[in-house]
Amino acid sequence: MIIPVNLGENSYNITLERGAIKKAGEIFDLERHALIITDSGVPKEYAETVARCAKRADIVTFEQGEKSKNFDTLRTLLRALTENGVTRSDCVVAVGGGVVGDIAGFAASMFMRGIDFYNIPTTLLSQVDSSIGGKTAVDFEGYKNIIGAFKQPKGVIIDPDVLGTLPKRQLANGLSESIKMALTSDRELYEMIRDGDAFADIDNVIYRSLLIKKDVVEQDERETGLRRILNFGHTVGHAVESKCGLTELYHGECVAIGMMPMLAPCMREEVASVLAKYGLPSRSPVPAEKLNEAMSHDKKVDGSFINAVFVPKAGKFEIKKLKFEDFANLIKETL
Ligand SMILES: NC(=O)c1ccc[n+]([C@@H]2O[C@H](COP(=O)([O-])OP(=O)(O)OC[C@H]3O[C@@H](n4cnc5c(N)ncnc54)[C@H](O)[C@@H]3O)[C@@H](O)[C@H]2O)c1
Repeated sequence: MIIPVNLGENSYNITLERGAIKKAGEIFDLERHALIITDSGVPKEYAETVARCAKRADIVTFEQGEKSKNFDTLRTLLRALTENGVTRSDCVVAVGGGVVGDIAGFAASMFMRGIDFYNIPTTLLSQVDSSIGGKTAVDFEGYKNIIGAFKQPKGVIIDPDVLGTLPKRQLANGLSESIKMALTSDRELYEMIRDGDAFADIDNVIYRSLLIKKDVVEQDERETGLRRILNFGHTVGHAVESKCGLTELYHGECVAIGMMPMLAPCMREEVASVLAKYGLPSRSPVPAEKLNEAMSHDKKVDGSFINAVFVPKAGKFEIKKLKFEDFANLIKETL
């Protein structure tokens, strides 16, 4: 199935199909030199499969994990592009999760002032969320994603077969982002996840999540307005993340916790049980005071006010500007 992302001259197609990774040469223009970027946790056959589809390919593998999303790795990638003789008319292909996609896209955006970039996301989180929308970045001086660029890919392949090697906890981690999008924008998807088995119906969950993200990105490519709804659960989620570290909880798990205070009170119990059904947490392991302290440094805090996305009922959202003090009280009452 082809899902077009309509962004004027930056438009591209997402191909969602089981087994599509083997057809990368038909879907992307690989009749040229491709630098394929992956990490040590991604089964290496995926990058090798893509390499076999290209006229000429070099594979660069960096150490897995968020700790690699930094300038050292970026430098390694830029060096590989330079030393392997990649030219302006060649391309970069990311084969991996959100870490690989974000840093490979950033390298492609700056090498020779920008060369073609293709993305083959291999985690559920990257398939439903990070591979769409063109945000690329590295972490810097303890700040996540603070240095980066908008770089739309030329094409994305989403092959649900690659999720077969992903640990269950990583699957749940990605599902959290789908639940987030369903809660703000698609009541039917939320009910499907609530009442059914999202993992058994994963192709459909990916498809519907992509439609939500595509729609938001098409309306607000540079995150000046509507795209903020994708941050639902992230203000508190980032605070949990910064206080307990990613070794303890994954990003999607922190977002799951972060959604709870932003829900209408009558929804909280039900959503907590949906999260629990998929092995996701809904209570913060960090005391509310510490979260509030972390949030007072958040970029969404504007003076003594905070802009946050609330969900009054499944499939609906409201962006509200609250006094930071009132927001902090809400966190104390709910987490
Ligand atoms: N650009 C965006 O819009 C955006 C949106 C959300 C998140 N992100 C970023 O995404 C990153 C998180 O992405 P993630 O959750 O995919 O983490 P990740 O890229 O670290 O992948 C998680 C782990 O799974 C392994 N892995 C990947 N594919 C696999 C497979 N098919 N089988 C087995 N193991 C596999 C990886 O090696 C890694 O160890 C963060 O850096 C976050 O900032 C970006």
